[in-house]
Amino acid sequence: MKNFFHRTRLAADMADKILQIAPGSASSSGLFLAAPRRTGKSTFLREDLRPALQAQGALVLYADLWANRKADPAVVIIAAVRSELAQHEGVVARLARSSGMDKVNVGGISFSLDRVGLAGGDVSLSSALVALSDETEKTIVLIIDEAQHAITSESGSDALFALKAARDELNSSSHHGLRVVATGSNQDKLAMLRNSKEQAFFGAPLVKFPTLGKDYVQWFCEQVRLPVALSVEAVEALFARASFRPEMLGAAADALRFDFELLPEDVPQRFSRAVLEQIEASNAEQLRVVHSLTPLQFAVLRVLAGKGQNYAPFETATLRAYQRLLDTVAPDSTADVPNVQQALTALQEKALVWRASRGIYALEDASLRELLEQAGLLVDETAMANASGQPSI
Ligand SMILES: Nc1ncnc2c1ncn2[C@@H]1O[C@H](COP(=O)(O)OP(=O)(O)O)[C@@H](O)[C@H]1O
Ligand SMILES: [Mg+2]
Repeated sequence: MKNFFHRTRLAADMADKILQIAPGSASSSGLFLAAPRRTGKSTFLREDLRPALQAQGALVLYADLWANRKADPAVVIIAAVRSELAQHEGVVARLARSSGMDKVNVGGISFSLDRVGLAGGDVSLSSALVALSDETEKTIVLIIDEAQHAITSESGSDALFALKAARDELNSSSHHGLRVVATGSNQDKLAMLRNSKEQAFFGAPLVKFPTLGKDYVQWFCEQVRLPVALSVEAVEALFARASFRPEMLGAAADALRFDFELLPEDVPQRFSRAVLEQIEASNAEQLRVVHSLTPLQFAVLRVLAGKGQNYAPFETATLRAYQRLLDTVAPDSTADVPNVQQALTALQEKALVWRASRGIYALEDASLRELLEQAGLLVDETAMANASGQPSI
């Protein structure tokens, strides 16, 4: 099986729109792509978009803020810039000159890229990118995967502001341009990077990244190597039920491939069952974490999921909503501010809840909302006003 299905046309089209700015368009501020987890964003960025941008003459830098969730997002972004700088001797020489290193160089001490950074580093991110742009005479595209992670820390937010400064400078007529392409799995979170004037990417277009389609399913059916061919229509329907996650199809095919007693006539039906089992297993896994929560953590999660963008964790009405849920299962517990604070921290540690540095909370994975809803566990406004209508835990 060839490893990836390539979306060459989509990539070329997108690259074109990223690099050629239409008059009046805000896309020079950056482009934001949102799609649920495991639907192929990172794969597309690496396998299709990056080469397409390069083919159109851009210099592409890639920073994956999730490769190591513990790493400081600012450090990851700076590392991506430094590693590109290191590949251009001319740029390093420029930076050394501009920071007065000439004489020191003669003495045999070379310019260290460690000096490029945010506060503290004596070469700003902006001047580093300007030097890179001037030396290569190329438009720089910085791709930030899982960008919402950047606003979970102060230094990450600082890095975004530094990038905004760099972008304004590089997009002036004397340089060759800087574009920032950011992706994330949760639209609400990405929106925070661009919705308010104080945010670094105010006004940048937020686009739904298209999920893999029928052409992918066709490719999958051709490559899958099962004893009989699968029907594209049937697999397409299963793929939609699997929320367009390629791994669900892949794992189902594996299950069949290693079943040595499988009869050819049973293949279509067994494949369909295997996909449904994969979906089931992935839902169960998510709910398993939910069911291991304390009553208060669970109550907080349900209220947060129900309120969505309007969630205000410590308002009196919200505290009352937690308490109502608690009363049905743990009447001795109290939903007060310190307890709720603790519960939110625990939920963050379990990677269920995400917190922006300004104290805004959201579900880490937007699909959990749907899952809670299906399980009848979502707390909506009407249910909040009518505690007796609560499903039990
Ligand atoms: N175009 C594709 N062809 C084949 N498999 C793909 C494709 N895109 C994604 N996948 C598979 O789907 C899974 C999730 O992809 P990934 O790019 O990590 O998603 P995301 O970044 O949206 O979470 C990976 O196992 C990947 O191999
Ligand atoms: Mg990804």
